[in-house]
Amino acid sequence: MKSIEWLTNSIRFVDQTELPLNEVFIETSNISILADAIRTLKVRGAPLLGIASAYGILLGIQNEIHAPKEKFLSAFENAINVISSTRPTAKNLFWALERMRNIIRLNSNDDPNTLFDKLKYEALSIHEEDRIMCENIGKYGSELIPNVAKIITHCNTGALATGGIGTAFGVILTAYNSGKDISVYADETRPLLQGARLTMWEFQKEGIPSTLITDNAAAWTIKTKKINLIIVGADRIAMNGDAANKIGTYNLAILAKEHNIPFYIAAPSSTIDSSIYSGEQIQIEERDSSEVVNGFGKQIAPSNISVFNPAFDVTPHHLISAIITERGVLRAPFLDSLARTVKQ
Ligand code: MRU
Repeated sequence: MKSIEWLTNSIRFVDQTELPLNEVFIETSNISILADAIRTLKVRGAPLLGIASAYGILLGIQNEIHAPKEKFLSAFENAINVISSTRPTAKNLFWALERMRNIIRLNSNDDPNTLFDKLKYEALSIHEEDRIMCENIGKYGSELIPNVAKIITHCNTGALATGGIGTAFGVILTAYNSGKDISVYADETRPLLQGARLTMWEFQKEGIPSTLITDNAAAWTIKTKKINLIIVGADRIAMNGDAANKIGTYNLAILAKEHNIPFYIAAPSSTIDSSIYSGEQIQIEERDSSEVVNGFGKQIAPSNISVFNPAFDVTPHHLISAIITERGVLRAPFLDSLARTVKQ
């Protein structure tokens, strides 16, 4: 299943808020509908946000390819603003917009029609490269997985969140397909339940032995089920190795340390933010209180209460055993290994 696809003049993507009950696709040629879908997590997951953003630019400019260049460029800038104001934390979204902007910079003499073709080629390349990055993350990462392994993962990092087999999910899938005896425990991932709704759906489709746990069962699961390792994705990685990922990831990293098991991050190089030194510089998205208060289709807390609903947290680098990228497995000191990786 393709979680996102460029059609002739439109994009088509799975509405992830309808899963696991309904496999519904949205097709649109309207950038505002896409921006709204990103805001409401119909399209989500850092690498997929990068791909969707690049396609979003195409939607925003495709009606101006016969217009004067000034008008075309102003539509381009407007499209960049619309997409970059959707969600702040995933680096991949801004990385993809930067790649699209570079095409404009490097081809300043081209007419709008030619520029559009080059931008389309770039967006399709971003998509295809992500598929290959996932394959390579899977290969490098699966070498870290023991022949018999019980694993905890968090949020959703599979085909739904990327242009390929996934990041952390891709590592698990590759290890499983290579014949390893894998069983996975997926955190439900409150408040939006990406683990319960999406990751369990993907594990079930792939036939990987998997068990759903509530987020607060993680410590007890590690202890009583003898978990061997924890592996998750990331939305933005600072140069010192601090990594932002779905809220609750930091808890897991602390639990891994207490139980003396490895804690791995799996992410493509497009998630690395070479402009920031530490996680303190990462903007953490805070979302509406209704996601917490109306969690399960009904109100589950009193009205008019104060709610803190951060969508992500930052795991400090000293709790991370390794960062698995498409260019290899990075170890501490991350300042060196990440610097080498972004230069490649
Ligand atoms: O808010 P979401 O669902 O977009 O958050 C997604 C995550 O935190 C994922 O773990 C991360 O983007 C990696 S996806 C390969």
